[in-house]
Amino acid sequence: MNEIRTIGVLGAGTMGAGIAQVAAEAGLDVLIHDPISGATERALDRIGGFLARKVEKGQLTEAECASAVARLQASSLLEGLAAAEVIIEAVPEDLELKRDAFRRLDAVGAATTILATNTSSLPVVRIASATTRPEQVIGMHFFNPVPLMALVEVIPGPRTAPAVADDIALLARLLGKTPVVSADSPGFIVNRVQRAYYLEACRILESGAADIVAIDEAMRGIGFRLGPFELADVVGTDVNLAAGTAIFEGFYGEPRYRPCLVQRRVADAGRLGRKTGAGYYDYADDGTRGGPWTALAPAVGGGPRIAQIDAAQIEARILAVIVNEAVSAVADRVASPEAIDTAMQLATNWPEGPLAWGERIGLTSVVHTLEALNASVPDGRYRIAPLLRALADRGGSLFAARS
Ligand SMILES: NC(=O)c1ccc[n+]([C@@H]2O[C@H](COP(=O)([O-])OP(=O)(O)OC[C@H]3O[C@@H](n4cnc5c(N)ncnc54)[C@H](O)[C@@H]3O)[C@@H](O)[C@H]2O)c1
Repeated sequence: MNEIRTIGVLGAGTMGAGIAQVAAEAGLDVLIHDPISGATERALDRIGGFLARKVEKGQLTEAECASAVARLQASSLLEGLAAAEVIIEAVPEDLELKRDAFRRLDAVGAATTILATNTSSLPVVRIASATTRPEQVIGMHFFNPVPLMALVEVIPGPRTAPAVADDIALLARLLGKTPVVSADSPGFIVNRVQRAYYLEACRILESGAADIVAIDEAMRGIGFRLGPFELADVVGTDVNLAAGTAIFEGFYGEPRYRPCLVQRRVADAGRLGRKTGAGYYDYADDGTRGGPWTALAPAVGGGPRIAQIDAAQIEARILAVIVNEAVSAVADRVASPEAIDTAMQLATNWPEGPLAWGERIGLTSVVHTLEALNASVPDGRYRIAPLLRALADRGGSLFAARS
């Protein structure tokens, strides 16, 4: 493709507005369409407000702000996106809604137009197959809030032309983002590897071996900005459970991804996290974190009291499960080891990439931790990735330069 000058954005919600903002700031012309009355106008108002605040903070000049605003153009009709070289879809996460949107974009876009989806969890190939041009359909997964998050997962489907992935990686760079390429498989890179962080924490909680506060403190103690339960409260316990369920189902019930009952319980109770003032923790009106929801753990983890594990054991368990998941993503050819480590650090602010971290603490020690867990709960959730075992056995590295 020649230079990308104009992008189209379909859906002017949280993500569509963020994508439009960064594209306009990067000097691209942006056409935005949303069929819901008033949605595009509200998005443009919000973007204007964000840009004005950047001027106040000295991050943008008045002139840069004015020209970014001038590059944003609302379109009342979908056909108005036709002039774009790339159209990025950011409509709600519903497969039929997205397939319908792509069917219509296919009819509207020029023959060379690339159609990108910002889906977090749906297979790109299923969206692409709604069009007559699956070779020009790709995933372009931004993270929230778009202006602040550096990562974009570029997700070619099995039918996407290689040149399209190159064009989208280039576009991501134009927007000031770091692209990493991921296979079109459940959870892509970030949502898949991050499952391990939440799930092992929930399993520890459910077993009664440690409580919410101890687990969060342990993980903060080794450099995670938020513990797994604090993070789930930021993401939304409902959103987090839905993402986890989609990955579990996407892998046909693989035990490694089975959601925990505590996740269901907290969401079913309407404790959806910070947005409802209560999740795993209670929150004051000013957002200050209060104590944990004490009704949660005893109800599901009650019964005979089991031995408590200390911070070092909590850390070792959660890290081992994360490393196993990251290695399994390499083995499944989801992405390169470098891409996985970059993605996890940029999207989650983890102190170290999971693979480099695993090699630093020692893959043999990771395997030993997993073997002990697998012996105590032999239902497949702790099955060791064969590649991890092989690397540990021969003292190898995933990173070519080190092996
Ligand atoms: N919010 C996040 O944290 C986040 C992060 C990464 C990816 N995503 C993905 O981005 C996509 C959008 O999420 P969001 O949080 O911006 O949602 P949102 O609800 O904030 O915005 C969706 C927008 O789409 C519009 N819309 C509804 N039906 C439409 C249609 N048929 N055609 C065009 N527009 C339509 C709505 O009016 C709304 O403005 C989803 O696929 C989501 O999974 C979200």
